[in-house]
Amino acid sequence: MRAVTSERTRGRLSDRGFDPDRVIGDADGAMDVAGFYDLLEVMAASEKAGQSPTYWLARLALSADLPSEIAETLFLAYNQQSAEEAGHGDKVFGNAYFSMGGVAPGGEHSVFGDGGDVASRLKARDDPYENAQLLARTAGRIGGIETVALQRLFPLVTTLCERWNHPIGLDLMKQLRDVVRPEESRHVLTWRYVFHSLIVPQGAAHIDEYVQATNAGRSQLAAPTLARDQLERMLGTHAPTTRQLLGKERATKDTDPSEHR
Ligand SMILES: [Fe+2]
Ligand SMILES: [Fe+2]
Repeated sequence: MRAVTSERTRGRLSDRGFDPDRVIGDADGAMDVAGFYDLLEVMAASEKAGQSPTYWLARLALSADLPSEIAETLFLAYNQQSAEEAGHGDKVFGNAYFSMGGVAPGGEHSVFGDGGDVASRLKARDDPYENAQLLARTAGRIGGIETVALQRLFPLVTTLCERWNHPIGLDLMKQLRDVVRPEESRHVLTWRYVFHSLIVPQGAAHIDEYVQATNAGRSQLAAPTLARDQLERMLGTHAPTTRQLLGKERATKDTDPSEHR
């Protein structure tokens, strides 16, 4: 990471009492504190970027001619997810970044782009069937992103925090454990819920599309795609309950996606 962190940033970190050159990790090459600082900026902006698509998915669920119980469950789950992604971006990663001297990260630092076209892409159209397909595709892609966050990115950040052993990193680690991971686990449950309630009843071709959309999401974070049987294991055999999706009831071991590594 050293090459991409500017000397100005290193100087700013030094002025604030951080040693920018201290190596804290060796995953994907040696990462120093300056690289970690840059990573926080990307994580904050990318988490925040999850707010808008999930906001629109919630509304799409109400315009897709779905059975009312499914439509309402998805509305509530995505609306809640939208607020949670904003929290992960602004409150968790954004605060850690700010504590190290960074200002609020701009959308351009998100790995998903600045999100300028999200509203026009995901706003409900006149045709409910088209809306249901758009919802399904987007749910698959976002679910793929969530699986990577949960299984790869958060463990990486946690390891870096541990090695850095600084109060800012230790506090971030605690928030990842107590807030972010449980919430992300529920977001993966929503991906499972869409699969069992919308996709499976439509048959094999739709299942294939969902698997492809999920892998497309994983590819956006440069994670390896998963074989269909691996994904089907993660998707489980049945839909989680509405109470589990909304965090009112803890997922059982069987439905907790963090158990599937
Ligand atoms: Fe998140
Ligand atoms: Fe999430």
